[in-house]
Amino acid sequence: MTENIPPSDAGTLDLLLTCIRMAARDTNLYTFARADRGALPAGEPGSHIGVILPNGIERQYSLVQAGSELTEYTVGVKRDANSRGGSLFMHDQLRVGSSLKIVPPRNNFPLTENADHVVLVAGGIGITPIYCMIQRLIEKGRSWELYYSCRSRMDAAFLDVLSRYSQVHFHFDDEEAGRFLNIAGIVEKLPKNAHLYCCGPAPMLAAFEAATAHWKPEQVHVEYFTPKFAAAQEGGFVVELARSKRELTVPTGKSILQCVREAGIQVPHSCEEGVCGACETRVISGQPDHRDTILTEQERKESATMMICCSGSKSPRLVLDI
Ligand code: FES
Repeated sequence: MTENIPPSDAGTLDLLLTCIRMAARDTNLYTFARADRGALPAGEPGSHIGVILPNGIERQYSLVQAGSELTEYTVGVKRDANSRGGSLFMHDQLRVGSSLKIVPPRNNFPLTENADHVVLVAGGIGITPIYCMIQRLIEKGRSWELYYSCRSRMDAAFLDVLSRYSQVHFHFDDEEAGRFLNIAGIVEKLPKNAHLYCCGPAPMLAAFEAATAHWKPEQVHVEYFTPKFAAAQEGGFVVELARSKRELTVPTGKSILQCVREAGIQVPHSCEEGVCGACETRVISGQPDHRDTILTEQERKESATMMICCSGSKSPRLVLDI
């Protein structure tokens, strides 16, 4: 087995795009590997990698295949003309052989592999982490079912493989007179010990969260790739950096992360939108104003950590482990 190399400079891997395959209308699968096809850092179901765009911005895409001995990463990307640039770059600029900086897998959407029953709800390109989970659940012989919704059959990735399983329920809006998947109706009938996962467009996530609002939070799992809340911009508080022995005042319009970096202190960060988890920082004291889409309600209450790229402060002073 080839030695597993750590990420190179700034925590990224230099990988080659080795394959592009069409998965559905406007949706491609992109496979990245080391030039020598050596081992890569492991990724679990639900993990995403970060693709660094030429302008330095990172976009996150879920792994289609997971495991501890990976030699390639495959992600699915839907071309979205209204996107913030990531999908257009992937579809229009990338060619097999292109070299890219990739942030190794992180997992904000882990699968509870020993759940009695797993219910997966996917919309459009949101199928990618869910498809990865299904492979693991099949491998482990666990009980699962999938509700997969797309505008049309043409938009469904992995259609051939998924059609083999009786526990997969497809919903194509154009074959249902334009009606959306009835998530509340599905959730209502589920066994109360099930673990529920949802990845899809914002309206689907909102419907899923509304339908599961009375479920135990630890049984409900949602993956966001776009920010759910506006970043804190109010400023007007002091951040004490305990390890660096520095004190910074965060002004209106700036994030804690920006202020820390401007002070010459290097801290891990990536998406700068509260969706990737790279900038998670331990809070020693003070009351953060959480604006990320990663921490659970319970974690927000406890405030042991915060995402400093987007969250602010409700107290005049925050002491952070930086
Ligand atoms: S940098 Fe991604 S959550 Fe803060």
